[in-house]
Amino acid sequence: MVDISRRNALILGGVGIGAVSVGGTGFFLNQRLESPLQSGVGAGKALVLPTEVRSSSGVLTVALESSSRQVSIVGRDVRALSYNGGFPGPTLRVRAGDILNVSLHNGLTEPSNLHVHGLHVSPENNSDNMFVTIDAGNSFDYQYEIPADHPPGVYWYHPHHHGLVADQVFGGLYGAIIVEDAAEIPATRERVRVVSDITVDSSGTVAAASTMEKMSGREGELVLVNGQLTPMLSARPGERERWWVINACTSRYLRLQLDGQQLTLLGIDSGRFESARDVDEIVLAPGNRADLLVTARTGTSTLRALGYDRGSSGGMMGGSTSSSDAVALATFAVAGADTVGFSEVPDQLVPNDLRSATVTARRELVFAMGMGGGMSGSMMNATINDRTFDAARVDTGVQFGSVEEWTLTNTSTLDHPLHLHVWPMQITEQGGQPVDSLIWQDVVNIPAGSTVKVRIAFNDFSRKTVYHCHILDHEDAGMMGIIQAL
Ligand code: C2O
Ligand code: CU
Ligand code: CU
Repeated sequence: MVDISRRNALILGGVGIGAVSVGGTGFFLNQRLESPLQSGVGAGKALVLPTEVRSSSGVLTVALESSSRQVSIVGRDVRALSYNGGFPGPTLRVRAGDILNVSLHNGLTEPSNLHVHGLHVSPENNSDNMFVTIDAGNSFDYQYEIPADHPPGVYWYHPHHHGLVADQVFGGLYGAIIVEDAAEIPATRERVRVVSDITVDSSGTVAAASTMEKMSGREGELVLVNGQLTPMLSARPGERERWWVINACTSRYLRLQLDGQQLTLLGIDSGRFESARDVDEIVLAPGNRADLLVTARTGTSTLRALGYDRGSSGGMMGGSTSSSDAVALATFAVAGADTVGFSEVPDQLVPNDLRSATVTARRELVFAMGMGGGMSGSMMNATINDRTFDAARVDTGVQFGSVEEWTLTNTSTLDHPLHLHVWPMQITEQGGQPVDSLIWQDVVNIPAGSTVKVRIAFNDFSRKTVYHCHILDHEDAGMMGIIQAL
């Protein structure tokens, strides 16, 4: 039985399974929930965790090498991008107060660099510096000093060379960073789940995105968990699993659901909630992460990403809708004898609440999209306050130590997830309604045609970094600005 389902998952295009390869390049079946073969695909292999490296005595030193190479996806050889041969790259586990040394060798044939997404570290020098370029064949030594009061949780790393970010992340360059809790949260086991999407063309290489796909943000045909298609996770009833879920997709939103199981959300990004929340559904925009506890109940459940409507680029030439299709991500099979339950999750240490802070400056960021002008202009025009990225211009100057309130207005017909480096954002208002709980994120979705307000404390680190749309095709098209705190 398993063999048949596995074979179903491995069928090449052109074999006459038309209904399930609709829209596909034909290298793999795609993965729609409606597909009659989807349940078969669910009988996948056991989930494999990326290689893990941990700090000891306050230091983690790791060498990363990016390269284009053969990786195996659902048993097929695919030429993709990889850190250290992994797909995803190794998980880096650190603690607050640690030093993280990453020596990156760029084995690609184009420039690259590294960003530690969500870490509250310096944006200067050889820390999380967005203005470093590592040319093909060169190396660079990064050093990140993680503050002693750094929030625990799940973060990630990926390249950030302007203009090449979407291609490099889509191609496979990403990995998890875990900042461990000072007081361990008891769980039977921990599972890092890096969710990414990719399209493989008929020759077994990662497909290039068309201009139209870039305009709405490319979505891959396959949605993978740790590089695997619908892997299988097993547990016994009563066991508690810690899941760190990273949305490493270039543009795809993940509306996650796991029917029949109890999901308890500790927080999104670095923002822990005051107390853990039981949830039915979690929406992760590209770049967001969820820190989750799953209490296993007998039965077999499917972790699904339900459809998510992120608007349309209609109105622009040949625009199209951009709803992410529903896909099955993994199977969670719970069987066997009951194990003893776990105690309640204790209340957590949370960041300050800026709703009562004195705001020293207010500003508005307007996200817009339109057609580029001129014969040599790019077709897509994705702007923040009418401008596209210019590495030589500071767009937003803020005072070090101040608290600002930003009004994020999206005048376009597509959602844009805003990401700010270094300083997390507290969401205070959504669609005109005040937010009545403490929500801190480093990627904040601004739905099409709507407004979100956030507050930011420009503490601890000064100097220059960036904010941008985390639909990476939009970032590459220039939906990014430079911020300088002095
Ligand atoms: Cu995850 Cu500036 O990026
Ligand atoms: Cu980032
Ligand atoms: Cu965008």
